[in-house]
Amino acid sequence: MFHAQILTLFPEFFDSPLSCSIPKRAIQSGIVTVDTIQIRDFATDKHHKVDDSPYGGGPGMLMKPEPVVASIRAARDKHPDTHVVMLTPSGARFTQAKALEFTEKSGITLLCGRYEGFDERICDYVDEELSLGDYVLSGGEPAALCVLDAVIRLLPEVLGSPESAVLDSFTEEGILDWPHYTRPELFEGKAVPEVLLSGNHAEIEKWRRAQAIKRSKKRA
Ligand code: ADE
Repeated sequence: MFHAQILTLFPEFFDSPLSCSIPKRAIQSGIVTVDTIQIRDFATDKHHKVDDSPYGGGPGMLMKPEPVVASIRAARDKHPDTHVVMLTPSGARFTQAKALEFTEKSGITLLCGRYEGFDERICDYVDEELSLGDYVLSGGEPAALCVLDAVIRLLPEVLGSPESAVLDSFTEEGILDWPHYTRPELFEGKAVPEVLLSGNHAEIEKWRRAQAIKRSKKRA
């Protein structure tokens, strides 16, 4: 069974998205366990302080090292072989290849920050730093959710048809998916491409490849 642990100040953020669709089914069928760990529980002062102002001045607050590192240790105590990922806009870009790589592990621990970021020394306690993209979210939680969702759907047995995961956009390095059509054949004057109705599987395959390459070039 794959384990996921989420270190966060907002465990409730994950309640709704993990209680529908594919993640819900994966959890219910015991393919994955998801546990949230409240970072604030590891603050030792009487106000349970988890953030502080930056040395050298500047706006915003940073996540303090003591409670965050204590929460990472708690996660490692529970799953000693867990792979700890910090979500930060300064991390390496999260990709489909990375999601696939994570499915080979026994589990992951996703560390979410708030405020302006983490005290830099926390980086020494994680296995890698990942970013969702070149934009700043209000915290690591939406990023952690995306990572978790992308990983869960790739776990063996999660998707009904193993082919759907294999045929995803990006599974093949840099190649986007081809266009898909379903009924009706004609929608507001827009027809489904003839070739898809032809029953000629070799031609369909050829058309799909060509479309995927064209689209990948256009969106590069
Ligand atoms: N935290 C804030 N912005 C982020 C991003 N783009 N990726 C990952 N974590 C983040």
